[in-house]
Amino acid sequence: MTAELSPIDRAKSVAAYRAAEMVEEGMRVGLGTGSTAAWLVRRLGERVRDEDLRIKGVPTSTATAQLAREVGIEVVSLDQAGWLDVTIDGADEFDGELNLIKGGGAALLQEKIVATASDQMIVIADAGKEVEALGAFPLPVEVIPFGWQTTRTLIEELLDTMDVLGTSATLRMNNEAPTVTDEGNHILDLHLQRIGNPRQLALVLNQIPGVVENGLFIDICDKVVIGHGDGRVELR
Ligand code: 5RP
Repeated sequence: MTAELSPIDRAKSVAAYRAAEMVEEGMRVGLGTGSTAAWLVRRLGERVRDEDLRIKGVPTSTATAQLAREVGIEVVSLDQAGWLDVTIDGADEFDGELNLIKGGGAALLQEKIVATASDQMIVIADAGKEVEALGAFPLPVEVIPFGWQTTRTLIEELLDTMDVLGTSATLRMNNEAPTVTDEGNHILDLHLQRIGNPRQLALVLNQIPGVVENGLFIDICDKVVIGHGDGRVELR
């Protein structure tokens, strides 16, 4: 690590480096997606090279798979690994109960499958991701492209009945075209401002036809490693 990092990158990197030390010889490790997870993957690559650490990595996106291979981590599929010792991933928000919003990088579906198939999920985050109530970050929902506008209408009607402050959903775009996830789906971002009951919302969203998965991670995360801009690290 170098001293010229911005405070935010320093916070992300120290959290990732601390979590990388929790990975032990022979582990099967779920590798998250995003800028914080990229610090983790690069650090694990260094440990593989310098310490002869042997691990199997299960990436949560094509981007992470490519980075993991580049840094020398053995990449296997989730089905090859079967079950994982730990998944380490970033988050867009976490609250006091360690519930999360994820999916800012559009990888929430694989991230949730991989984290759920792990003995332990460790989140790595800069301190700015901690919130009193989830929802300021728009909640990503992965939807099937077929009839996505109808799905959006159904979601907005549902939101009208829920304990949230906002009810609009926007299609995530990338270079003037709808974002396409690794599974070929689209992302709707729900602008809720505050989610009163994340557990209930997570359950009911997934009952709408066309919704594949939502970015609320409830009772999945076991530990958060929080990095600060001055290099301090806290565990929750
Ligand atoms: C990707 C994610 C990321 O973990 C989340 O968006 C955090 O990203 P970053 O570490 O770049 O802030 O959920 O789908």
